[in-house]
Amino acid sequence: MAVRARTLEQARELYRTNWELVWWVFMRVSGLALIFLVFGHLFFNNIQVNAGDIDYDYVASRFSRSWVKVYDSFLLGLAMLHGVNGLRYSVEDYIKRPARRFWAKVGLFTAASVIFVLGVMTLWAFTYEEMGEAIRALPGG
Ligand code: HEM
Repeated sequence: MAVRARTLEQARELYRTNWELVWWVFMRVSGLALIFLVFGHLFFNNIQVNAGDIDYDYVASRFSRSWVKVYDSFLLGLAMLHGVNGLRYSVEDYIKRPARRFWAKVGLFTAASVIFVLGVMTLWAFTYEEMGEAIRALPGG
């Protein structure tokens, strides 16, 4: 696995399963998309506003726009899949014992799934009015 394919022909020769070839293509496409998504995100949250001024109201006004939720869903989904698959490559390269490798992957996929579900819930599960009520209802809120 430590040998990396640079071209699609090399990737076709290297990966025995079609799924690995699909991941190889995905890593290139998502890597390119993430460059634009992350710089767009930083433009809205670091350049258009001062990051130190970001507060609840700013995030609420952002999340009240549907396109921000769609944009952030792509950012979250692609960044998670790209990052987790990259870590999976490292696990496969460096952890030689099958049992340890198995449990490392179980830990990685479990942590990634929890983070992804929480991120999607934050984006889509509530309207910001409902979230505000839930937060105000907390003790001391
Ligand atoms: C200093 C740098 C950053 C600041 C100040 C910042 C700020 C914010 C703010 C204010 C939001 C809320 C909603 C919105 O406006 O989109 C947000 C959400 C988000 N940010 Fe950033 N961000 C930073 C860097 C990054 C980077 C580098 C990534 C990814 C590689 C990222 C990924 C995300 C994602 C996925 C969400 C949506 C969270 C969710 O699913 O609930 N951010 N960020």
